Amino acid sequence: MGHSSHNACAIALAISCLIVAASAGSFYDEMDITFGGERAKISNGGQDLSLSLDQYSGSGFQSKHEYLFGRFDMQLKLVPGNSAGTVTTFYLSSQGAGHDEIDFEFLGNTTGSPYTIHTNVYSQGKGDKEQQFHLWFDPTAAFHTYTIVWNAQRIIFLIDNIPVRVFNNHEAAGVPFPKSQPMRVYASLWNADDWATQGGRVKTDWKNAPFTAYYRKFNANADKVGPNSRSTSSVNDNQAWRTQGVDAAGRNRIRWVQNKHMIYNYCNDRTRFTNGLPAECKRSRFL
Ligand SMILES: *[C@@H]1O[C@H](CO)[C@@H](O)[C@H](O)[C@H]1NC(C)=O
Repeated sequence: MGHSSHNACAIALAISCLIVAASAGSFYDEMDITFGGERAKISNGGQDLSLSLDQYSGSGFQSKHEYLFGRFDMQLKLVPGNSAGTVTTFYLSSQGAGHDEIDFEFLGNTTGSPYTIHTNVYSQGKGDKEQQFHLWFDPTAAFHTYTIVWNAQRIIFLIDNIPVRVFNNHEAAGVPFPKSQPMRVYASLWNADDWATQGGRVKTDWKNAPFTAYYRKFNANADKVGPNSRSTSSVNDNQAWRTQGVDAAGRNRIRWVQNKHMIYNYCNDRTRFTNGLPAECKRSRFL
């Protein structure tokens, strides 16, 4: 897959390739609003999307296409100020029983306290693989890029192209890995003040509503599944994600993130896994 678009670009004028690439990233073309009605707004000719949350509802969207492996980039600017109780998401998921899922969730906080970035991987319905981080920047002040790379060997979570987490395919050790169920891209902003902020102790302050989060520059370099599945949509039409791993420099960055900014790692939680840590935790500390 993707070769037809490659060839088309190779033989077409560069300008027409740029037009194809730019339209591929439009939220109108790529996404459907799934809930929240007017609270989800696409603007700027399809380049920008905002989600909002008030006392009555949050809002969300999902990709029109399903994908089986790819690299998914999204820029987000999170709810500023007192965002306690709110959760903003960007994730991949299949549907139905025994689903697969790869999650970025952004748990809001009181003014001046850090967001928590929550990551998880579900394979065949089983999650319990959480890692959480604080950030080294204010995610409400500007857009930052959040990326999920999903190939047959591994899943990599990146923030501004810095790898923060790798989940390797350890099927050889009996650990299920998402590889056969197509997934869609999802995003949402919703109220989770029963658990999200400081363990549910800090509630959403509706005086600040509506809360708004901003999305832009969605890009999928990915294999589409289903009708119209021939091409891959991409601004940077590049296939590097298929074999993307983490090189020595990347391993240094992960170590830095995990030493300085990680606040929870299921692989260190011996009180939770009283019958022994999950198999993938024993096999590799980071990679
Ligand atoms: C909120 O801030 C507190 C205090 O700094 C911190 O412990 C917590 O991880 C932050 N995030 C959430 C989601 O509670």
